[in-house]
Parts: sequence; C-alpha cells; structure tokens
Amino acid sequence: MAVARLRSLGAWKALERHFAEVRGVHLRALFAGDPGRGERLVAEAAGLYLDYSKQRVTDETLRLLVALAGECGLRERIDALFRGDKINATENRAVLHVALRAPQGRRIFVDGADVVPHVHAVLARMADFAERIRSGAWTGHTGRRIRNVVNVGIGGSDLGPVMAYEALRAFSARDMTFRFVSNVDATDFAEATRDLDPAETLFVVASKTFTTQETMANAHTARAWCLAALRDEAAIARHFAAVSTNAKLVREFGIDVANMFEMWDWVGGRYSMDSAIGLSTMIAIGPARFREMLAGFHAMDEHFRTAPPERNLPVLMGLLAVWYTDFFGAETIAVLPYDQYLKRFPAYLQQLTMESNGKSTTLAGARVDYETGPIYWGEPGTNGQHSFYQLLHQGTKLVPCDFVAFARSHHPLGRHHDLLMANVFAQTEALAFGKTADEVRADGTPDALVPHRVFEGNRPSSTILAEQLTPAILGALVALYEHAVYVQGVVWDVNPFDQWGVELGKQLAGRIVPELESDAEPTLAHDSSTNALIRRYRAQRRPAG
Ligand code: F6P
Repeated sequence: MAVARLRSLGAWKALERHFAEVRGVHLRALFAGDPGRGERLVAEAAGLYLDYSKQRVTDETLRLLVALAGECGLRERIDALFRGDKINATENRAVLHVALRAPQGRRIFVDGADVVPHVHAVLARMADFAERIRSGAWTGHTGRRIRNVVNVGIGGSDLGPVMAYEALRAFSARDMTFRFVSNVDATDFAEATRDLDPAETLFVVASKTFTTQETMANAHTARAWCLAALRDEAAIARHFAAVSTNAKLVREFGIDVANMFEMWDWVGGRYSMDSAIGLSTMIAIGPARFREMLAGFHAMDEHFRTAPPERNLPVLMGLLAVWYTDFFGAETIAVLPYDQYLKRFPAYLQQLTMESNGKSTTLAGARVDYETGPIYWGEPGTNGQHSFYQLLHQGTKLVPCDFVAFARSHHPLGRHHDLLMANVFAQTEALAFGKTADEVRADGTPDALVPHRVFEGNRPSSTILAEQLTPAILGALVALYEHAVYVQGVVWDVNPFDQWGVELGKQLAGRIVPELESDAEPTLAHDSSTNALIRRYRAQRRPAG
C-alpha cells in the first residue's frame, strides 16, 4: 500500500524542529534585529514587487523551505510542466497553460506535435472575430450591430472571463455591455438578459466539454430567448459562438462550427482564461490588449522557469502557504486586493487554488498525513476592513494575508488613492506589529479596557505591489498564483490538475432530476433526510391553489 512520504523527508523534519524554535518569535523582534529586513525579504518579477518581510520567517526558515522544495523534486517538476509531460497523471494529460502564452517560434510538444502554432492559429481567429464584433463589421441577424456579449459558462469557463473583464474594465469597449451567466439558477440568466435586445446580443457558450449541465441549460435557454425574438433558426449562426474541445456537440447544439474556437484537453478549466475561453475578454479589451495580457503571463512563466528558488515569486509564495498550512496549522489564506477592479479576483482564486489542491490523496494513491490546500477567500479593500478584519487583527485564528495594491489608480480622483494606499500599508503594519498593553495604556485607555484594545500583532502578510493594473500586470498576477499553486501541489504530492471531487455531486444530481420532474410520485431510495427534502420540495414547489 502506498504511503505518503512528505513527513519523512529530511527537510520536513528539520522544519519541524525549526518551527518549535521560531513559532513564538514576534515580527517585532525580527524587524528590530534586522533593520534592512523590509528591503531584503523582497523579490521582483514581471512588474510585480513582492514584500514578504512581514511573514513569520527567518533566513533559516527560507533555507529549509527551499531545501524541502528541492527534496520534493521541484526543479524537475517545473521542467516537466514546461516540457509538456503528462503530469496530470490521473487523467493522463499534459498540463500546458504555459503554451497558451508562449510566443510564436517556441516549440512545445504534446504527443510529438508542436502545439504553439495551433495556439497562435486560434488566437488569430479569435482576433479576427473580436475585431469584427468590436468594429460593427459583424452584425446580428437583423443587420444591427452587436452591442452586448453574454458569456455562458461555469467554473473555469466563467470565473476567469468575468474576473478579467472586471479587472480590465478600464481598457474595455465602453459602448458595449458584457454579462456573464453561470448559475443554473434561472435568475442568473433572467437578470443578465432582462434589459438586452436579442437583435444586438451575442452569446459565447464557453465549455471545454460542452456537456456541463449548468452551461447547457443556460445555452438552451439563451437559444430559446433569441429565437423567441428573432423567429428564425438562421439567427443562431449570427448570435452564438462557442469555445470548446468538442466540435461534435457544438454542431449538434446548432452553433456553426465556423464560430467555434478550439481549446485542447491539455488546458485545465481553471487554467484556461488565456485560451479561447478568454474570447469575451478579447472582445472587451481588443486583441492587442489581450496579447499584452498574454505577454504578462509569459513574463511570469519565464521567471518561474528560470529564477533561483530564493528569488522566485511563485516558489516563495507556494512555500509560504506550505509553511503556514502545515506548521502553523493555518486553515485559510486571505487575498485582499486594494483595487475595486479586482473585486472578482478572490472568487477566481478560489477555484484555482481549491479545485487544484483540495486533495487528500498523493500521486501514488496514499492518504496524506498532513494538511493540504488551504481555503482562499477575500474581498477588496477597504470594504473588508469594516467587516472581517476584526477577526484578522484580534481573533484566535491565524490568517496569513496577501495584500495586492497598485501605485497608480485608473481614477486619480482627489485624495482617494492616497487614502486607499494608506490603508494597505496601515493594515500590514497593524497586523505585523500590533499594539502592546503599554502602548494602549499610554493612550490613556482605562485599565479595564486595556485587554480589549491590545493588538498582539505577529499576524503575517505579504504585499504585492505593481505600478498599475494593466493587462500585462493582470497576466503576471494570475500566473504568479497559478505557479504558486503548482509549487504547493508538488510539495503536497497531489495532482493539482484533476478534480474528481466534483463528480459525485454531479452524478447524484443526475439521479435526482427525474425524481423532481416526474408527474407521478417517485419511489425514493435515498437516505431519510434526502427523501424527506425531495418530498417537501415536490409538495411546496407550486403555489397553493
Ligand atoms: O466543476 C468542474 C469543472 O469541470 C471545472 O473544472 C470546470 O472549469 C467547469 O466544471 C466547467 O467545465 P466546462 O468548461 O467543461 O463546461
């Protein structure tokens, strides 16, 4: 029987001993003992500056974490990723999101065939289509220009596109409307389309498999919505495009394969925002900006591939997550973007991180005997400060935080940006250094209130700072997290590229649907709770009378 081996590695054992020595060391002491720490424990790449000096690490911690990565074979695993090896072993697939942003001329092989020319051929088709939509050269069935684009997809076929659209709104065609429908809850479709004119609306049905229940339900509803107004099957060809690996199902749905943009099984859903799944992004920001985004991804890829571990941003971030998850027992990591345009970034990261590393079986099939993927969550600052930051500062849980901020705003209105940035810096400072009882008393606080107003500090954070949120910076930022997730997966010895954990729910829902839809009372053979819930739903779903 396979046995998880991580805890038996020399570097792991050394980290356990080291943790016992440093767990009580306060960031105040680390900074006091090393005045240059704030300028030393930083790394920079692809326009991103990472300050990890406010993390609870010493030089020895970093040395041991890097040694752990070495013992886990990180170097070889990075090479395997970029070589196109079938590192998604449980699905026997290569994992080549890095090929999606490889420049022309790079050669990356899958099963003996260079995939880079295919990537660029699809990008060129997407660019042609996007330009025609943006310029008005592509018209709807009645000859009107397309003013609304509705992306229909879920998971990686939704979260990347909606996150990127929101992030890059400042670069988007402002005379167009972009909407995203993902949930099988009809409210999502109804609200997204209620004020749109079908004659001016293009649906992009984004689904790698073209079998996903939610997306297919929404796509069929979109089709009916379109036909109810345009009353001609021929309209579908002007109002629907598809992104998929599955030409057969796209054709069967009735979408002209001339309007289909290909992706490949070596692109994972949550790693697909710069494949054709990004078609809506490209229509929004234009092909040139989309290519800038790809260049940002690629710059981070190159950094990840070539930089030494101690200066490698994704390696450092991945190892820090391991340090907190497995040694401090932290269960979550907060991602706190101080930019309103990144409001969907935490949601995007939730799929990227948790669908990737929310695993408990090693590649060899053993049950892990250590913690893996932490819960990622967050909200844009400063809103979170007036909500959950109380717990970050004074709660009993240790929540490492990633702050993401930009030196220049797209909206330099009055004092806003300085106020925003003052809050970023203040929060990281408060978390790290806190406020002692003596300092609280010195403010004149009555004794009884002193314990309530003490901030222990020693709450770790990183700050990722860039000049401005541009397409290239967004690409670099997403690639940073993609690769950090890979580093974690390598250490935890799990496969970050499958998602078997989503299957059971899908399967059971498939069994329940007919039980809900049948006119006759079905014979239910679930557990007593599920049976009772189904009966109650069937009894209550129609309004009385
Ligand atoms: O929920 C599982 C999942 O397979 C995700 O990994 C994926 O991003 C999503 O469903 C959508 O899949 P598809 O693009 O095939 O519709």
